[in-house]
Amino acid sequence: MEKTIGVLTSGGDAPGMNAAVRAVTRTALQKGFKVIGIRRGYNGLLNGDMVELKARNVSNIIQRGGTEIFTARCKEFKDWEYVLKAKEVCEKANMAGVVVIGGDGSFRGAADLSKAGIPCVGIPGTIDNDIQCSEYTIGYDTAMNTVMELVDKLRDTSHSHERCAVVEVMGRGAGHIALNTGIAVGAIAALVPEVPYDFNELVAKIKRGRETGKEQFIIIVAEGVGGTEELAKRIQESTGIESRATILGHVQRGGSPTVRDRVMASEMGYYAVELLEKGIGNRVVGVKNGKVYDVDIQEALSMKKPFDERLYKIANNISF
Ligand code: ADP
Ligand code: F6P
Repeated sequence: MEKTIGVLTSGGDAPGMNAAVRAVTRTALQKGFKVIGIRRGYNGLLNGDMVELKARNVSNIIQRGGTEIFTARCKEFKDWEYVLKAKEVCEKANMAGVVVIGGDGSFRGAADLSKAGIPCVGIPGTIDNDIQCSEYTIGYDTAMNTVMELVDKLRDTSHSHERCAVVEVMGRGAGHIALNTGIAVGAIAALVPEVPYDFNELVAKIKRGRETGKEQFIIIVAEGVGGTEELAKRIQESTGIESRATILGHVQRGGSPTVRDRVMASEMGYYAVELLEKGIGNRVVGVKNGKVYDVDIQEALSMKKPFDERLYKIANNISF
């Protein structure tokens, strides 16, 4: 029976996941594997919800956001009995390995399935860029460009009304999107979960800006900081400047992936299949010093990603 490679997307979707599925599929086909798209994350393994992917099944998807094989969260997979059930499904499909595109939780599942005997390789796919072992995660660049475009639009109306726009961006536990987009849109402040902020200092900065003729203000708040609506109200009360809260939400997860996301997804997808071809599993593909590399999943999960203090300082020093 022909050896197969499985591929799934799990957790929150990210632009570029399709490009990764395409790269995995085409690389595996070239190496003589049959390819199985496992639909709706780990659920597909438990329910047998799988489709064969041939070269033409992944045509015309490199430019599409989202994930054509769907994604989901699957609570059961945290239980060993379901991991063993998935193992049986993989064995029946003669899988040489599975490529898992997702975040930390998805990698825990991949580690478990590897332990059960099915080699799995993780590819970091999340807009948050919060995977410790990798300098880059698929979807991050596209999401930041979306934020930048949307905030540029907000700036027009904020300017006309001489208002303060308080904009919440995604990032439950990490402020990478907020920090970088804060710089890119010229925000007066980027508030991130990694660094506590001083409300009085923020108000003083806004007041100084207004005194020197600053017409409008943008504050970028990472979702993990919370209280965005409340912050806008308090700024208005404390400064007398009309303020509006905007929560960008899931629009940040959509859209056609940027060049960076498409290329990164293609490179990581190719690399993941090369590992599985050699029978190597329990690894995560990541970027280190700008180069694609692989690392043991447990080690990947225990790593700490440093917060860019210097960028934070720059963000808050050059905008006043
Ligand atoms: P997100 O951060 O967007 O939720 P993750 O990749 O962390 O993305 O997704 C978490 C999902 O991973 C869970 O909903 C579940 O489907 C899957 N998963 C599988 N095994 C585990 C596990 N052992 N621990 C946590 N999540 C797991
Ligand atoms: O992890 C990616 C992310 O977009 C986070 O920034 C956000 O908090 C979360 O997913 C939202 O998840 P859901 O799709 O379940 O609302």
